[in-house]
Amino acid sequence: MNGPVGSGAGRVVLGVSGGIAAYKACELLRRFTESGHDVTVVPTAAALEFVGAPTWAALSGKPVATGVWSDVHEVPHVRIGQSADLVVVAPATADLLARAAHGLADDLLTNTLLTARCPVVMAPAMHTEMWEHPATQANVSTLRDRGVVVLEPAVGRLTGADTGRGRLPEPAEIFEVAVGVLARGAGGADLAGRKVVVSAGGTREYLDPVRFLGNRSSGLQGYALARAAASRGAHVTLVSANVSLPDPAGVHVVRVETTAELRDAVLAATPTADAVVMAAAPADFRPTSVSDAKIKKAQDGSSPVIELAQNPDVLAEISRDRSREGAVVVGFAAETGDETGSVLDLARAKLARKGCDLLVVNDVGGGAVFGSDQNEAVILRADGTSVDVPRGSKTALSHVIWDEVLRRFAL
Ligand code: CTP
Repeated sequence: MNGPVGSGAGRVVLGVSGGIAAYKACELLRRFTESGHDVTVVPTAAALEFVGAPTWAALSGKPVATGVWSDVHEVPHVRIGQSADLVVVAPATADLLARAAHGLADDLLTNTLLTARCPVVMAPAMHTEMWEHPATQANVSTLRDRGVVVLEPAVGRLTGADTGRGRLPEPAEIFEVAVGVLARGAGGADLAGRKVVVSAGGTREYLDPVRFLGNRSSGLQGYALARAAASRGAHVTLVSANVSLPDPAGVHVVRVETTAELRDAVLAATPTADAVVMAAAPADFRPTSVSDAKIKKAQDGSSPVIELAQNPDVLAEISRDRSREGAVVVGFAAETGDETGSVLDLARAKLARKGCDLLVVNDVGGGAVFGSDQNEAVILRADGTSVDVPRGSKTALSHVIWDEVLRRFAL
């Protein structure tokens, strides 16, 4: 970093290019300034058609340089990029991605991108056709190959009545990824070019249209893993079972409810994946039959009997049928320990039984982990060694898990 601006804070350049989502960059800017970052906004000429310079100046608390010909004696076209700790471009239009990929320097933002040596995050937003066009996809690949963290756009309502992929991710989520990138510094995009699959949440097995068997998994750990991988440049598919959290920025989210749906979604994404992390809690059992109508209480007061069938074990299945050589498979184990063994004894037996490469073990005696943003774990490796991860945020644990996955890639 280039000098103190407060603990964990940095000099951030917020590049804004000319799309309707430029108004959402105002909220992103607020999040940076409110958390102590020093933000220089660099809007393109087209961005200023959507949101004017006074808004950027008021929200950033500084003058806004809008072109290479203003304040020339300060050489802003070089200085802004050189002194940045992080450049975030949100929204990044198809045109901006093209100019950045080809190294053009025809305005202040593209000059800044050429002179910056810090991490760069781009959050594209455009119509689906423009995003899917081979020209845009080639530009995105070029930028990712150079270590730029280009987030996948979200799916949802676009300008006008149409919906599809191309929406700017929520500002709060772009902010989370950006601060993760800032914290890791240059070279932090060490998962660039890797495809990873993360499952999160708890599955539901329906008894009838309104009742289900479920579990207490909040999805927080899986979402933290997905966000951490995205901030390290990975292409992330997040298979999400009944989680009520906002979609992490730049992540492809597949929603499922039951273990069978989760299995289908994970197996569909696995053949091209470099790593699969099963942070979800799939229900082990499902009712043998699901009633189409709501089940009524018996008039005679008798208790219903629910017959259960065992669900497939997704982790064991992907560990057994490795569809890709060198792919790393990670499981989670929530254990309490019992009369047959300690938490770690049971976890070691589970690692062997499931056949995964790494097993992240939580001691859930007392239920401390569920819904908490903190976690403490031991990561067991298949070779019998282990890493203790002291109590800390689920984000911190996520980064240790990805470090371990990277270690396996190198073996
Ligand atoms: N898992 C899975 N499919 C299931 C159940 C669990 O893929 N049907 C995965 C979880 O995502 C997790 C790991 O297996 O990564 C361990 O989950 P856990 O519930 O601890 O394991 P179980 O096999 O259910 O073992 P236990 O008998 O201890 O409940």
